[in-house]
Amino acid sequence: MTTLSESPVLQESPYVPRFGTIVESRMLTAQEKFFRIVMEDGRPLDYKPGQFVEVSIFGIGEAPISICSSPTQGGFFELTVRKAGMVTAKMHELNTGDTVGIRGPFGNGFDPAAIKGQNVLFVAGGLGLAPARGLIRWVFDRRADYKDVTLLVGARTPADLLFRDEIKEWQSRPDCQTLVTVDRADETWTGNKGVITRLFRKIKIDPANTFAVIVGPPIMFKFAVLEVLSEGVPENHVICSLERRMKCGLGKCGHCQIRNVYVCQEGPVFTYDFVKKLREGI
Ligand SMILES: Cc1cc2nc3c(=O)[nH]c(=O)nc-3n(C[C@H](O)[C@H](O)[C@H](O)COP(=O)(O)OP(=O)(O)OC[C@H]3O[C@@H](n4cnc5c(N)ncnc54)[C@H](O)[C@@H]3O)c2cc1C
Ligand code: FES
Repeated sequence: MTTLSESPVLQESPYVPRFGTIVESRMLTAQEKFFRIVMEDGRPLDYKPGQFVEVSIFGIGEAPISICSSPTQGGFFELTVRKAGMVTAKMHELNTGDTVGIRGPFGNGFDPAAIKGQNVLFVAGGLGLAPARGLIRWVFDRRADYKDVTLLVGARTPADLLFRDEIKEWQSRPDCQTLVTVDRADETWTGNKGVITRLFRKIKIDPANTFAVIVGPPIMFKFAVLEVLSEGVPENHVICSLERRMKCGLGKCGHCQIRNVYVCQEGPVFTYDFVKKLREGI
């Protein structure tokens, strides 16, 4: 007899999580933990960089988390989780070998094909480096498809900087320019100091042939957009990822809705010209 959990109807329901096993986990900072996950049923997650999953801890709840890896890299996916409340705190207690529920992937994600043949400027602040990293890794894995690649990375303090070892690798690559800054330095820090927008003084932008991918907290987003627009980058070449409160991820509950747009479905990745119209209610 088929049990309830084996029912084909339930197994195909987008509300029912599949099981994922954590195959690698480590703290990136005091607040953020990294997980590499493999789906237990052997069907890899078919995702695009910039999409997100709903992670469930059974008995506690679900939280939307961006996928921070690139599908160019194999049969796993990766998450970076900041401890914020019930679900994310419980996730921090999990380690290699533990199981989580996974629904998704959800959202539109970045479209790497749309920026092919162009210069790509990444501006990633704080936890924004997690969703940006998926596209960064895609671009490096398909490096010949893109022209100049520039990475601007910002964190509040050196201790808050995510993926420090990877950033060092990016800095040593001859085929990209990577600049890092911290708002508040300590005695260990010898690099740039100040907010991320100050790094714009150190780079050259060819505006007509550049796509700017800006991911970070709202205040950073606001000022980074002003910088790229003032350099002449067209509004439809400015790509951002919007975070909203989300529950279902399926365009049903309305938690993520801005006017007539369900961010969980049509976003979270939008071009700035669209975000502007959304804000203005056009
Ligand atoms: C598309 C998307 C992608 C995200 N990607 C990541 C990621 O890669 N890594 C990561 O650590 N977090 C990410 N978040 C934020 C993450 O979903 C929330 O931190 C998480 O839902 C909090 O759940 P909790 O049960 O731990 O906290 P709760 O106990 O629900 O709340 C704790 C605190 O977090 C706030 N909070 C709750 N839900 C959200 C939310 N959706 N967004 C912002 N604040 C919230 C609450 O107001 C409260 O202050 C993402 C959110 C969205 C919508
Ligand atoms: S999260 Fe439910 S409609 Fe978007």
